[in-house]
Amino acid sequence: MTARVSKSLYIKTYGCQMNVYDSDRMAEALAAHGYNRVDTAETADLVILNTCHIREKAAEKVYSELGRLRRLRDRREAEGQSGMLLAVAGCVAQAEGEAMLERAAFVDVVVGPQAYHRLPELLARRAREQGGQIDTDFPVESKFDELPRQVESSPVSAFLTVQEGCDKFCSFCVVPYTRGAEVSRPAAAVLAEARQLVAAGAREITLLGQNVNGYHGDGPDGRTWSLGRLVRALAEVDGLARIRYTTSHPRDMDEELIRAHGEVPQLMPFLHLPVQSGSDSVLEAMNRKYTAADFLRIVEKLRGQRPDMALSSDFIVGFPGESDEDFAATMRLVEQVGFALSFSFKYSPRPGTPGATMRKQVHEDTKSARLATLQATLDAQARAFNEATVGRVLPVLLERAGRHAGQLVGRTPYLQGVHVEGRGHAIGDLVQVRIDACYPHSLSGTVLEPDPGEEIAA
Ligand code: SAH
Ligand code: SF4
Ligand code: F3S
Repeated sequence: MTARVSKSLYIKTYGCQMNVYDSDRMAEALAAHGYNRVDTAETADLVILNTCHIREKAAEKVYSELGRLRRLRDRREAEGQSGMLLAVAGCVAQAEGEAMLERAAFVDVVVGPQAYHRLPELLARRAREQGGQIDTDFPVESKFDELPRQVESSPVSAFLTVQEGCDKFCSFCVVPYTRGAEVSRPAAAVLAEARQLVAAGAREITLLGQNVNGYHGDGPDGRTWSLGRLVRALAEVDGLARIRYTTSHPRDMDEELIRAHGEVPQLMPFLHLPVQSGSDSVLEAMNRKYTAADFLRIVEKLRGQRPDMALSSDFIVGFPGESDEDFAATMRLVEQVGFALSFSFKYSPRPGTPGATMRKQVHEDTKSARLATLQATLDAQARAFNEATVGRVLPVLLERAGRHAGQLVGRTPYLQGVHVEGRGHAIGDLVQVRIDACYPHSLSGTVLEPDPGEEIAA
């Protein structure tokens, strides 16, 4: 591969925010080799599918997309146009490895999440050698060290991966196998990247990790820093108005982090804290290592620090052995907490995980019925939460242009999308907005003109 010959790169990203972040990093690494990112596969020289393996449906989508791309490539070649390299990255690449090249021999490169810094080399090898190239190692060198960041412009709300991998081995989950062991980046590297992002236009940073609150990075003072400590240091970064973090595990919700919610104004009063189930026996079988009561205690402590704390969560229904009583316990927990936003799934047995071979798998129909019951309540809670903000004045960070001329879209501290008439305001402004109406997926509001000299809290 020759640098400076301009080629086009299309990346399609599936799965979690970590994949979104990784896609940007891959694009940056390939930019140094002449690749410009484009937003369609149609004429791209290189297409990367950055994939997700979390549920069966997510993984199957990848193979159907690969089939579509293969037909596109054949058509282009038949029409005498340039060819297309096809790479698969992410968690399906890691989980399938060689099997992917057996099932889809037309794929040029298969690269796992810890080997992205080797992508240019893999592409060069593909140009020299016949057949698909594969790298699903967990190398000793960190991809973060090998992929220096070059942020020229940042969205107002940016992602920053601080921790990767998982040692928790929940019995339903593939992540420990696809992402490897828990690794935290040094705090100094995180702070340097945050400053770069802010200089490039970010006003909000969401710290990412499969277990972000399990963060334990080397601090510049020679000590190990927790996430709470890191958040406090980030709050010192000039120009950074808002800090968020995701995804947290209830087990790692320590006192320092909970206190930070009360003491660090930049830390938003919204937390995604997946509970999965409200039944202690299911939680135990899932290897979550907390009880429903533990979860409720954490919520209480968080609300003790920030009475306006809003929570979102993930739920799995139909985990092996889940009885009607177990499911009823989940419904009770939902009623007790009141969630602002939620994601709920039918249990999907994943090859290689302990759950997949457990006896007492739950029937699909039962899973569907429970999911419908749960989602009806969760949807009603989300609606009630959003409706309760109508009439309130909330700080909104304006993030992007809306669909109509002059319209801007921003977010409240509680991650709700709000449409406003932009008049005199710009993307990146933090404004006070009176919420006027609530729609199924967003709110609308009116920007209030600040009193001269008024400081707007994040
Ligand atoms: N690290 C996070 C979750 C990452 S996966 C945590 O510990 O909570 C995101 C969500 O996908 C999980 O919270 C879970 O609800 C869901 N999920 C993971 N594996 C699944 C499976 N096998 N079947 C159904 N849902 C699953
Ligand atoms: Fe998966 Fe559990 Fe690790 Fe979350 S904590 S990534 S659910 S194994
Ligand atoms: Fe999916 Fe991998 Fe993220 S399995 S949810 S892309 S860590």
